[in-house]
Amino acid sequence: MLNDIIKMIPIYVMGRKYEVPQGLTILKAMEFAGYRVKRGCGCRGGVCGACVTLYRRKGTYQLNFGLACQTVIEPDMYLMQLPFVPAHKAIYTIKNVRANDSDVTKLYPELMRCLQCNTCTKACPMELDVMGYVAAAMRGDLEKVVELSIECVMCGVCAVRCPAELSPFNIALLIRRIYGKHVIPPSPQLDQRLKEIRGGEFRKEMEELEKADEAEILERFNEFQATKGEAAIELGKEKE
Ligand code: SF4
Ligand code: SF4
Ligand code: FES
Repeated sequence: MLNDIIKMIPIYVMGRKYEVPQGLTILKAMEFAGYRVKRGCGCRGGVCGACVTLYRRKGTYQLNFGLACQTVIEPDMYLMQLPFVPAHKAIYTIKNVRANDSDVTKLYPELMRCLQCNTCTKACPMELDVMGYVAAAMRGDLEKVVELSIECVMCGVCAVRCPAELSPFNIALLIRRIYGKHVIPPSPQLDQRLKEIRGGEFRKEMEELEKADEAEILERFNEFQATKGEAAIELGKEKE
């Protein structure tokens, strides 16, 4: 019996109780329970923000947010996935937006409504200083916004919780784009790589991938996973 080998714990998914093995992430526990998670899951590595999940622990009143692929389940967790947040996103052409705070407030005038309540920071599953980057955006300190928001996974929770109805993550995205386009000098490495791509350097590999069947793609993916550590070590050596 599975229960004799692995400790099973109860969790509740959208109000329904399931017994699942202890130690799983929310995502794996949901899959163990029989859910086929397609919309609320992307990278499975804590990067894409698609799997954000709302949960409450038994006996507490707080609602918490976590990434389902990273957060480990606890007994009697009440869970609900929030795979998409229809937050406001301004439409712009980045080359026409100038690197100043007035263009940011023209696109997102609600920025100035921030109450500095810190609710966004408390809700962020990446533990970012969201209020800090919103405050930096208000005073036009674009570099600080980039520094504080660079690890945002765009899950949208800060927008869900904001009482002033801001979409902090989309404001920060605009500022990172402005910064990348108009403030930092162009990267010679990027230019070189774009030249290689346009010159067809990777075309052969792309064509091979396009023709590959599912089994071959899976094999390549597993090979890539297995050698990721070695690649990182090689990259580290190159940088030394
Ligand atoms: S800043 Fe907002 S969108 Fe970005 S990770 Fe935190 S809560 Fe999610
Ligand atoms: S939750 Fe909204 S109002 Fe509160 S600090 Fe964050 S951005 Fe400002
Ligand atoms: S699936 Fe991408 S962050 Fe969880």
